[in-house]
Amino acid sequence: MSPLNGSGANPLRDPADRRLPRIAGPSGLVIFGVTGDLSRKKLMPAVYDLANRGLLPPGFSLVGFARRDWEDEDFAQVVHDAVKEHARTPFREEVWQQLIQGMRFVQGTFDDDEAFERLRSTIDELDKQQGTGGNFAFYLSVPPGAFPVVIQQLKKSGLADQSKGSWRRAVIEKPFGHDLKSAEELNKVVHEVFEPDQVFRIDHYLGKETVQNILALRFANTMFEPIWNRSYVDHVQITMAEDIGIGGRAGYYDGIGAARDVIQNHLLQLLALTAMEEPSSFGADALAREKTKVLGAVRLPKDLGADTVRGQYAAGWQGGEKVIGYLQEDGIDPESKTDTYAALKLEIDNRRWAGVPFYLRTGKRLGRRVTEIAVVFQRAPHSPFDHTATEELGQNAIVIRVQPDEGITVRFGSKVPGTSMEIRDVSMDFAYGESFTESSPEAYERLILDVLLGDANLFPRTEEVELSWKILDPVEEYWDEHGRPAQYKSGTWGPAEADEMLARDGRSWRRP
Ligand code: BG6
Repeated sequence: MSPLNGSGANPLRDPADRRLPRIAGPSGLVIFGVTGDLSRKKLMPAVYDLANRGLLPPGFSLVGFARRDWEDEDFAQVVHDAVKEHARTPFREEVWQQLIQGMRFVQGTFDDDEAFERLRSTIDELDKQQGTGGNFAFYLSVPPGAFPVVIQQLKKSGLADQSKGSWRRAVIEKPFGHDLKSAEELNKVVHEVFEPDQVFRIDHYLGKETVQNILALRFANTMFEPIWNRSYVDHVQITMAEDIGIGGRAGYYDGIGAARDVIQNHLLQLLALTAMEEPSSFGADALAREKTKVLGAVRLPKDLGADTVRGQYAAGWQGGEKVIGYLQEDGIDPESKTDTYAALKLEIDNRRWAGVPFYLRTGKRLGRRVTEIAVVFQRAPHSPFDHTATEELGQNAIVIRVQPDEGITVRFGSKVPGTSMEIRDVSMDFAYGESFTESSPEAYERLILDVLLGDANLFPRTEEVELSWKILDPVEEYWDEHGRPAQYKSGTWGPAEADEMLARDGRSWRRP
């Protein structure tokens, strides 16, 4: 039967069919902070990968804005080198040759009105030469202190105006403020210039396949959701461990620390997706409603001294190499109290989760790089087996492996083959690499494409950002007033205090 039979409509032509490739319409991207690390390692390669996958329009344009005294060709060379080094997909000369047609560089500082005028005429020219239709996204990959001036300049120069049916969007990289007050001030500045639907706040964890899969696992299946609550779940552990130190990021990191750097955004977003109620649809409004509701129900422990831990890496060994401690890193104040490790216990005040602790931890220079969410279940209420039969049986768990070994593990007890009854933990694994032939796109590919398509599902809203700061602010204040972070040896799993925190609850951290 031809696809045209039956309903009469050709499913291949159905614009609502999500299986069709989502290809951006005429558009361009302007990157502020184009000489930074993020730009070279993530943004430029993501643009190339999208072009290589045929997901960008033919006249797509990429404009870099920075202080450097570069010509268009110098900028193109920098993009070229970044793509060669960091792109996910193979380098193809024909894709590059097409991309380079729309590459421009505008030299200037953020307070220079004339530079923004030049940016405006560059965009006008690109509209004519490349057919970008006036549709531009402005990516602010700049230090937080520079957000307000860039936003104001976009307004003053008229670059934020959406006239004649074209769109203008602002993409804002984290950190979005350093506490609730600064986030509110920043939101005010942004919303004086841009309407809410023009603003895309990046939390790159939401662009990860495995993070989006939390929603698929929970809401596209029937077997998990009935047990995803306080009647069955003992506790949840969310871990984001990194083996790297702070590298060359002293300027950004010192004074910010692990909790502000990743708990306020990535880990609380993971918590929200794990704990929220089912949204009525996968639309941006419905998702934001549920995430906001659950973040609003998060409660900090009463005793912040006992149920939060911060640490700082000391010298140690990592991957067979001797590494220095945080206080010895270049550009770090030797008296710094900045946390490179943070762990918190949170509870959620609603019927589904009352009494179930969510333990969050993150750290640099830990044993290995791994991000996972472990939903750990209660023990069976009654065991018909001898105590000795279940001595080696742990608690059942569903572990969402976000990275690097992407997949899902279900852990449960099984009888050890033999003549006696002995039960031990086994696991059932789903691995992306085995089930799917295509490798996962980089988070930034997905997010940049979504910005160009105007799809806001995977971008946290103002309320989510502010609620997350509301959760973290009292912890940061408590830490400011109480002592110093505990030292932990590089290459270990963090300070002993973090183990003690769980041991007091009769639990222990997973050793992934
Ligand atoms: C960033 C943090 O948001 O996430 C970094 O600022 C961290 O400190 C990085 O290293 C980790 O990202 P990923 O995708 O490698 O887990």
